[in-house]
Amino acid sequence: MTFEEMRKLASGYQPSKLFLAALRVGIFEALGEGGKSGAELAASLGLDARATSIACNALVSMGLLSGDENGYENSPESAKYLLKKSKDYRGSVINHINAGWEDWADLEATLKTGVARCQRKEKELPADDEALRDFILGMENITRDVAQKIAALLPLEGKKSIVDLGGGPGNYALAFAKRAPLAEVFHFDLPRTSKVAREFIAGKEGGGRIKFIEGDLLSDPLGGPYDLIFVSQVLHMFGEGEVEKIVGLCAGHLCPGGILAVHEHFLDDHKTSPMPSALFSVHMLAVTKAGRGYSFEEIGIYMEKAGIVPRERLAVEGTPSRILLGVKA
Ligand SMILES: C[S@@+](CC[C@H](N)C(=O)[O-])C[C@H]1O[C@@H](n2cnc3c(N)ncnc32)[C@H](O)[C@@H]1O
Repeated sequence: MTFEEMRKLASGYQPSKLFLAALRVGIFEALGEGGKSGAELAASLGLDARATSIACNALVSMGLLSGDENGYENSPESAKYLLKKSKDYRGSVINHINAGWEDWADLEATLKTGVARCQRKEKELPADDEALRDFILGMENITRDVAQKIAALLPLEGKKSIVDLGGGPGNYALAFAKRAPLAEVFHFDLPRTSKVAREFIAGKEGGGRIKFIEGDLLSDPLGGPYDLIFVSQVLHMFGEGEVEKIVGLCAGHLCPGGILAVHEHFLDDHKTSPMPSALFSVHMLAVTKAGRGYSFEEIGIYMEKAGIVPRERLAVEGTPSRILLGVKA
């Protein structure tokens, strides 16, 4: 690594925070499909005109806007992904990323104490309802394309009972219902998340087939027994003891020969790669009390202790996340 590359790495937060702040204060939405001068834009949002033009000039340099202070417009990509009326809108996940900013700013303290302060959290979820919607609909933004790919990778054929544990928005449950037309498909999540998922799923193709179970997966009945339990991007929110407990609970709710499919930002067994998973592990250190990324080996050991034989490690095309499949003995 050259020093110039190192310096660029150190200042990586600058374009990131500018983008996050611009979305949060409403710059892209206010520009909409037309254009506005810097002064008009600032006035429409109640922002300072000088600050708005300085920021927008940099957003132009980054390719998120075009024009200059006499008239700014959204780039085609900003209009596609950041305008709420666009069918491709994915601003929720960007707002959710912004919500982690203060936790990351607290990283020095977390490195000293070992435990993030988790301000603004209630259980594992954001305490504020709007932040919760950004979190869950942000997961929808991320899984919109990947859910069908994962449903195609899983051995769903012939399965009669499938649960998406910690199912979030419900894209996976919908994909399973489509791919396994004879199966009963359950979505299990905390009541506050379940409310967002029910609203999201209502009216979607196959949505009527999803049965909702509300509860805390660590303490409430999970239903079942199931032929397949899918646990996607849930384990990293918890510490080792809880993860071992969850894997054990899954084993107890699987039919003999049933499948446990764990989808995670899995680390390789030495835990230093791939980089997106290693950084995601730091994200969990920063935003949860005890969470982190886990390696295939670690989850495989918990499976074996619970009577599940780890069988296959699957890559998912187009994403760094991966799947570990285990079969109940
Ligand atoms: C990062 S999201 C993943 C959502 C979805 N499975 C996906 O892959 O997009 C974590 C999910 O776990 C749920 N969750 C967290 N703690 C839980 C608990 N104690 N019981 C049930 N669900 C929980 C959250 O509500 C959220 O939907």
